[in-house]
Amino acid sequence: MRQIIIGVLFILAGFTSCKNESKIETSKTKNKGLITKKAMVVSARVEASEIGTEILKAGGNAFDAMMATEMALAVCYPYAGNLGGGGFLVYRLADGTKGALDYREKAPLGSSKNMYLDSNGEVIKDLSTVGIMSVGVPGTIAGIFEAQKRFGKLDIATILKPVIKLAKHGYIITNKQEERIASYDSIFRAVNEKEILYNNNLKAGETIVNLALAETLQRIADNGRDEFYIGETGKQLVKYLQSKGSIITLEDLAKYEAKWRSPITFQYDDLSITSMSPPSSGGICLNQIMTMIEPFDLKDYGHNTLKTIQVVVEAEKRAYADRSFYLGDPDFIDIPIEALTSTVYLEDRMNNFSFKNPTPVDAISHGKITGYESTETTHYSIVDQYGNAIAVTTTLNGGYGSKLYVDELGFFLNNEMDDFSSKPGEPNYYGLIGAEANSIAPEKRMLSSMTPTIVEKNGDFYMSLGTPGGSTIITSVLQTILNVYEYDMTMQEAVNAPRFHNQWLPDEIRMEPNSFNEKLIQQLEALGYIINQTRTPVIGKVDGILMLDDGSLEGGADKRGDDTAVGF
Ligand code: DON
Repeated sequence: MRQIIIGVLFILAGFTSCKNESKIETSKTKNKGLITKKAMVVSARVEASEIGTEILKAGGNAFDAMMATEMALAVCYPYAGNLGGGGFLVYRLADGTKGALDYREKAPLGSSKNMYLDSNGEVIKDLSTVGIMSVGVPGTIAGIFEAQKRFGKLDIATILKPVIKLAKHGYIITNKQEERIASYDSIFRAVNEKEILYNNNLKAGETIVNLALAETLQRIADNGRDEFYIGETGKQLVKYLQSKGSIITLEDLAKYEAKWRSPITFQYDDLSITSMSPPSSGGICLNQIMTMIEPFDLKDYGHNTLKTIQVVVEAEKRAYADRSFYLGDPDFIDIPIEALTSTVYLEDRMNNFSFKNPTPVDAISHGKITGYESTETTHYSIVDQYGNAIAVTTTLNGGYGSKLYVDELGFFLNNEMDDFSSKPGEPNYYGLIGAEANSIAPEKRMLSSMTPTIVEKNGDFYMSLGTPGGSTIITSVLQTILNVYEYDMTMQEAVNAPRFHNQWLPDEIRMEPNSFNEKLIQQLEALGYIINQTRTPVIGKVDGILMLDDGSLEGGADKRGDDTAVGF
């Protein structure tokens, strides 16, 4: 099943030395990412970006490359790339048509609202975050097949061929990967009750081969989507799940469908922004925040200055308060999208904003809507040579999801059930508070923050971007758009720039450590803000593609990871 071969260190060294260093501000020496003329893939791993590009070069389009890139990430970035998770796609076709696909995991048929509570009604620690009860019904294979069937050009065998080769021949462990795998070593053993492929003290520079996954992918290439949901792979998966005590059944798998959704679209100055709709909160929150900050002259205030941070943080607070109350799976609840994103409502939400002091969190809560009753993910962006653009964010939720690894099939399973609200008012792993709208029910999709986003300027494609980061996804996407648009950064500078985050509760501004000057932090504290530089030392890991004035593409591959842009 497993072979470790000492790999060629200079390949890794060569790859890392190509990466751009962070250097912001000096407009004379702009730090640009990779520039290409026609097409580009930016993802968390060089191998995945290369395979996506190879598919484009073979005549495939962005949707063919999506399938290849996503599966390549499942091979060489098992931290978040997956077959056992789910995700969201936002696209813009060459003719300007926009749309979205939801392949989010679902709660099993046997799930129930209080399944994570003990007899006293208290949340049972870790039940929704680690191990078998945290697993939702996976959507990834349904998602990539649905997108490819509708828009792709190539046959599945051609698309999956280089991915299967990658799993068979292996990929080189990077330094960051070595550190990550080592830090999960004991939890892998504890949860799986045995050693798995990723135990064994893997070192940077070694090559890791996953033959079980190669075989799974080969069966999927031969038999299509149904292999995963009703075929041999599905049966093996359910057998594994049930042997561990899961409530997921063959019926759960057989009933899973990816769903086309209308994306959220809105204007910010002359930008037209398209982002993910529920069951992700990403698009609505981004829309709310950007509409609330639009009247302020952020350009004049400057990047990451006191005034900019105040405006953005206060808008974020209000949007996240609404998120926690109103948002959930639109197939189960009514979401007052129009009201929540209306300019009148959002102007009113900001009417108690003041530069003099923070608005107290309990003075915010969720807004009143008339007539309303009631850490690890991965993102990739692709632009193809035909003019199609996609933004895709996919996840197992936590790093390596539930930590459960299906040996025979070669992949990890998600712990996405923790994105539901186990109990109203009780924070989940990301500290997000939920309510009835996001309570558990059979077949319901858990609320997400994933924010794959496409931006147009004057009607033309401008940017495709997104990020992992749990609750910080929305605010990281926001800051990256502002960095390019308001602060004139290159795509590479925009993704590298230091980030801050506020999510209403807990009442704090999270900031990346050693990134903001001490005087600024003291000014914020003097105003009454609580600054936390330890809770989320890395905020987001944004990958994006920007179209430049001459029609060429600039990749922004976040320096925080091994992320790499490849194209032609
Ligand atoms: O869907 C969501 O919002 C979360 N499951 C995303 C998790 C994530 O981004 C973890 N990455 N750091």
